[in-house]
Amino acid sequence: MTERTYTENIFAGTRQELLDRIEQHLRPKRFAHVQRVEQTAVKLAQANDVDQEKASIAGLTHDYAKQRPDEDFIAAIKQYHLDPELLNYGNAIWHGVVGAELVKHELGIYDEDILNAIRHHTTGAVYMSPLEQIVYMADFIEPGRDFPGVDEARKITAQDLGAGVAFQTKHTLAYLIENNQKVYPKTIDTYNAWVPRYPNV
Ligand SMILES: [Fe+2]
Ligand SMILES: [Fe+2]
Repeated sequence: MTERTYTENIFAGTRQELLDRIEQHLRPKRFAHVQRVEQTAVKLAQANDVDQEKASIAGLTHDYAKQRPDEDFIAAIKQYHLDPELLNYGNAIWHGVVGAELVKHELGIYDEDILNAIRHHTTGAVYMSPLEQIVYMADFIEPGRDFPGVDEARKITAQDLGAGVAFQTKHTLAYLIENNQKVYPKTIDTYNAWVPRYPNV
């Protein structure tokens, strides 16, 4: 993608400097994924009148903590006094909810909309700002994604961001149930908040 210049002082450095920081923590495949999420998030931001610099930063940082060892998350849950209930989950939940704290304290990104987009990118949330919805959807439909239904997800999201959120939430919950996986209670709250509002997805 074309080089974007950061001007809003959300991150104290250039986009390239942010990329370099992120690359230190991710294996090449994951690093490529976050750049595709950025690209998709910026497009969705453009289409939905959302700040493109925030979309770029949130897209790049959403999986910043994905490849950290469990001990880092457990330490952060204690250090930052997060809900102790989180200790009963694992990387899939931690890299968002706890990962946001690592982005804040290690990368010095304090924008709460960006941090919430990171926090909620796997579980969704009852309330999601347009930026949060964008990161949630960009992660799901970025061009490297290939699963049954991804094209429909892309089409729905292009028409209506909220409908995309409902679509993904429904499919994620169905997948967890189908595979006998534990459902994080907030995922059910997300389902109840979003899916009945869009009866056609
Ligand atoms: Fe993730
Ligand atoms: Fe991701």
